[in-house]
Amino acid sequence: TRVDKDGHKHFMAKEIAEQPVAVDTALKAYLDENDAITLPDGLDFTQIERLSLVACGTAYYACMVAKYWFETIARLPVEVDVASEFRYREPPVSPGTLALFVSQSGETADTLAALLYMRDKADVIAGLVNVPESSIARESDVVLPIHAGPEISVASTKAFTCQLTVLLLLAIKAAKAKGLPLPEGMPDDLHALPGLIHQSLASEAQIAAACRDLANARDIIFLGRGALYPLALEGALKLKELSYIHAEGYASGELKHGPIALIDESVPVIVMAPKDALFEKTISNMQEVMARGGRVVLITDADGAREAADGTADVITLPKVPDTLAPILYAIPAQQIAYFTAIAKGTDVDQPRNLAKSVTVE
Ligand code: G6P
Repeated sequence: TRVDKDGHKHFMAKEIAEQPVAVDTALKAYLDENDAITLPDGLDFTQIERLSLVACGTAYYACMVAKYWFETIARLPVEVDVASEFRYREPPVSPGTLALFVSQSGETADTLAALLYMRDKADVIAGLVNVPESSIARESDVVLPIHAGPEISVASTKAFTCQLTVLLLLAIKAAKAKGLPLPEGMPDDLHALPGLIHQSLASEAQIAAACRDLANARDIIFLGRGALYPLALEGALKLKELSYIHAEGYASGELKHGPIALIDESVPVIVMAPKDALFEKTISNMQEVMARGGRVVLITDADGAREAADGTADVITLPKVPDTLAPILYAIPAQQIAYFTAIAKGTDVDQPRNLAKSVTVE
């Protein structure tokens, strides 16, 4: 099937805009009318004692977020690996392991090779993919489609938020299988997600304005804590892929162990800090940056902005979101920052140099 840009300037813009619908489709595919989560046969969380999550690129960062969810919500230990390392490390595999391979295309060579390594070692092999006819899906015992629809832009956007959505559903399902209480508001709050994503897309103008400045930077640092730490990594990855600006993502608490040496007026620092239990800590890291002349772009909600906007260069305000859902919502500004910085620099948004949509060779 031919996919067109549907009136958008780039596939990436179209795919960013499609996220409320894509995430809604993913939710509906797994939730029945009573909000029970239905999984394909062969995946029974009462039999699972640990998870091994393996992926590349943006899908790897989705796995890093999922580690926070599976560990805090379902109390399951999780290992996360990039496929190109995992496949050569010959990791020992304990009984009761679910090996979960996350891949938009389902064709990434390293991820497929890692899956084949786990073939006779893991209890269950699951493929969380956007393309159900792909090699990774074919080789998996259980296929978990993310329902994002065709993703054309090299930089992954809606596949990432749909991967996160399905991974969160799996963590909730695992918690239920173990008889654990769910985080407050779950699963009901899941239904708010498409609307929250839709609202957060409206920060576009604010972000585009901030990006005209960011486009002049040589280095940019992203900070986040907890489940927002992988979002800092994803923000940095997207930005370097599209704008060719050097960017690094760091866990805010790790700032003092190195990256703070880089801070001066010329290095913008993007801080992802919803007003959650870790807010005060992240903000204190942000203040260390400002004390050294760093230009801060703070991404937060209205409460966070009221408390911490002072002295920042820009504030991007997102809707208030249940803590569990924050990593999904904060993906939107991460994508928009990369998109609008690339536009400001005039780089090729949909086809960045040297990159491929799917890397089918080692
Ligand atoms: C390439 C793409 C990335 C993607 C990664 C993994 O590097 O440019 O956007 O995240 O491959 O791809 P997969 O299809 O396995 O998710």
